[in-house]
Amino acid sequence: LASIEVDISKVLPGTCLAIKWRGKPLFIRNRTAADINSEKNTALSSLRDPETEEQRTQRKEWLIVIGICTHLGCVPVPNSGDWPGGFYCPCHGSHFDNLGRARRGPAPKNLEVPPYKFLSDTLINVG
Ligand code: FES
Repeated sequence: LASIEVDISKVLPGTCLAIKWRGKPLFIRNRTAADINSEKNTALSSLRDPETEEQRTQRKEWLIVIGICTHLGCVPVPNSGDWPGGFYCPCHGSHFDNLGRARRGPAPKNLEVPPYKFLSDTLINVG
């Protein structure tokens, strides 16, 4: 099946690369220190789909998720919504934090993390 290699060397902190993978949008976000700090103290009990940073990322600076809202499948907007560095789905108003976790609105689940691995500090394989 189609796996791809993605050069992430030009994805600067605070930005999000959007590409296509298997016909789906894929978001690769370089999390800033502020992003990371802002989620450090989020209680899992406050989450509807409780997952830790360690479950969501292999390296905490990098969030890699499929850009399909878990409500009804619209494409959320990166760097948007009520959580800094997060995602906002304009279709029905779902907000995701900078770990792609569902925080407000109708989305029941976090944005899906695809299978991926780091081939080096600047190259990842997705799929
Ligand atoms: Fe995203 Fe409904 S499809 S909020």
